[in-house]
This record gives sequence, structure tokens and C-alpha cells, in this order.
Amino acid sequence: MTVDPRKFYQAKYKTIGDIPGVGDATVAKLRELGITTVENLVTMSARDLVKEGIGDETADKLIAAARKAIALTFIKGNDLLELRKNQMALTTGCTALDKLLTGPSGKSGLPTQSISEFFGEFGSGKSQLCHQLCVTAQLPEEQGGLGGSVLYIDTESVFLPERVIEIAARFPHFADDPKRALKGIIMAQAFTSEHQIVLLEAADEIIKDNNVRLIIIDSLTSHFRGEYIGRENLAPRQQKLNQHMHKLIRLAMAFNAVAVITNQVSTTPDAYSFEPKPIGGNIVGHIAHTRVFIRKGRNTLRILRILASPFMPEGEAPMNLDKYGMHSDEDITHLEEPEPEPEPEPEPEEFNIDI
Ligand code: GTP
Ligand code: MG
Repeated sequence: MTVDPRKFYQAKYKTIGDIPGVGDATVAKLRELGITTVENLVTMSARDLVKEGIGDETADKLIAAARKAIALTFIKGNDLLELRKNQMALTTGCTALDKLLTGPSGKSGLPTQSISEFFGEFGSGKSQLCHQLCVTAQLPEEQGGLGGSVLYIDTESVFLPERVIEIAARFPHFADDPKRALKGIIMAQAFTSEHQIVLLEAADEIIKDNNVRLIIIDSLTSHFRGEYIGRENLAPRQQKLNQHMHKLIRLAMAFNAVAVITNQVSTTPDAYSFEPKPIGGNIVGHIAHTRVFIRKGRNTLRILRILASPFMPEGEAPMNLDKYGMHSDEDITHLEEPEPEPEPEPEPEEFNIDI
């Protein structure tokens, strides 16, 4: 029987104090630096730790142990296959979208251990989908969920508990008490891009303690876009975004979680295509594995398109966005009340127009 190397080391090094040769003083020192879990450690380099006053040898040992625990080091193909076997898929609660999101493994939904991006213009339904995923992530695995809770980093103050309750009501798991869906959501508002970064940097412990399996950043780019204005700020903006996205991918891998980001499309016309371009440029594009473009149609119609991804073929399909959230027709037929008999049309009155 093969052993998942990550599980092996995770069990071995549950806390930083479990790593051989690490004493209470180092644990305390790391805590001062905001490093409280093994997953935290892996986001640091040995040099960072030495700079903060931790001995060379200890720093190396710490980083090596942390990397083993979350498998962010060189890894053999067969071990990688083992890790991939643990990859799960989170249902979106929308059958047509899940169908589009079917990977080579046959699993349907948003893959864990990676970042999924929803992008589209204002009102296309990115935040509505995030609310919906807050519900589906809490569903048991046999219903396509991850059986875990959700961390929602809200940068535009759009999170509405009432909407979660409303959407939860259509899922049998929550039908008896849709309010229950709120208990599994941890919400944090980010007021600036720096605040947003810090919230995620400090999230390891919360994620671990609450069995968070879905991390949402809605929206990833709004603060960055507002704060880093002008060409001269493009490079520092991309550098910060890069760092932020890497933290996110590490968390998704360490906790076998789904990471979701939203992104508005830029209205700047592009000389080469009429396609809207997501904000954030190449960095976001290269790190996000699954990219879903939402296009607004008439009224409640939305067209969702999967862009090329290593996990899924390209494809698009229509869906509805309304009080039930994002769904295909078959998702709500069991809830539809029968159409009331139409009132008989009154006989049209005769018009007598005197000229
Ligand atoms: P930005 O954040 O502005 O870029 O937009 P977004 O893509 O996040 O849009 P959002 O998810 O907030 O979608 C809002 C849209 O959802 C509304 O304009 C409505 O068209 C649609 N919607 C349909 N039914 C409902 C409903 O019952 N409640 C709400 N809040 N929105 C609904
Ligand atoms: Mg939004």
C-alpha cells in the first residue's frame, strides 16, 4: 500500500513544536513573527528566518520539515499521482457548470489544490456564485461538497448573509434550516490591498482550526486596481499580486482546499481582440488553473465559458442567475410552484372614436 507522503509528514509534524530539535524558544519566536503552523512555515525561506534571529541550522531544519509536510519540494511522478488522487472537486450547485467543469478524472466541479477564477463585467454574477459556493462547500462529499467550512475575504463589502440563506434553501441538505449554512462561513473584510494580503498571510491557523476547505477572495483585484494607478505602478502591483496568489496556492495545496478568486474585466479596448480582458494581467492568468468567463445575456441569462485549463477542455453553456443563484433549469424543477392558471383575458372594449 502506498502512503500519501503529505499525510505521513502532516501526521508527524502536527505543530511546529513536533519538528525534532525545535525548542519552546523557537516556537515562541516564530509565533512573534506570526508563524504559528507548519503550513505557515513553508511560505518562508530559511534566509527570512535567519534575518529574524533564528539560527542557521534550525532555520534549515524548519523549512525542510515544513516542505516535506506539504509536499512543496521536488517530488517523483508517482508521488505526485498519489497527491492528485486526493484532489477533490467541489460542486458549483449548477449542473450545467459542473458539466463544463469535468476533468480527465471524471470528477465534476472546482478542483481542490488549485485556484479557480471567475471573471466578467459588473453584475455578471461573480459574487452571487461565491455566495452559492459558500453553501456547496459545506455539503457532504456524497453530495458534491467538501464537508468543510469557508473563508470569505470580501474586498467590496458585498457579502450578504441573507443571500446565503436564500440560496441554501434550495439544497435538500439545508432545506430544514437554511440559516445553518451561515455557521460554516468565516468572513473577513479587507479595506486595502495591504490588509487583504495580511489577512491571507495570517489565515493558516483559522483554516486549520475550522476545517476550511474553500477560500474565496472576492474580488482579488479591486483594491490593487484602485491603489496602483499609472504605468509606473504596474510592476510593484504585479509583484504584490504574485506574492498574494502564491500564498493562496500554497494554502489550497496544504489544506486540499478550493481557492476561488473573482476579477472584473477591463474595459480598455484591446487592439487585437474584442474579448474582455481580466484585470491582473498575466500573473493572475498563469497562476489560476481554471478560468471561467461569465458573460451577461438578456435578463437572467448568463453564458459561462471555461478557458483552456490543464484540467478541463474549453467549452461554454447558458445558465440562469436569479433568486436561486446560478443554476440550470433542472436544478430547481423540484422547487417550482405550479404555474397559476392564467386569469381569463377581459373582453376588449369596443373603441368608439368620434372624429
Ligand atoms: P461586480 O462585483 O460589480 O463586478 O459584479 P458581480 O459579477 O459580482 O455581480 P453580482 O454577483 O453581485 O451579481 C448581481 C446580479 O445578480 C444582479 O445584478 C442581478 O442581475 C442578479 N440577481 C438575480 N437575482 C438576484 C437576487 O435574488 N439577489 C441578488 N442580490 N442578485 C440577483
Ligand atoms: Mg462582485
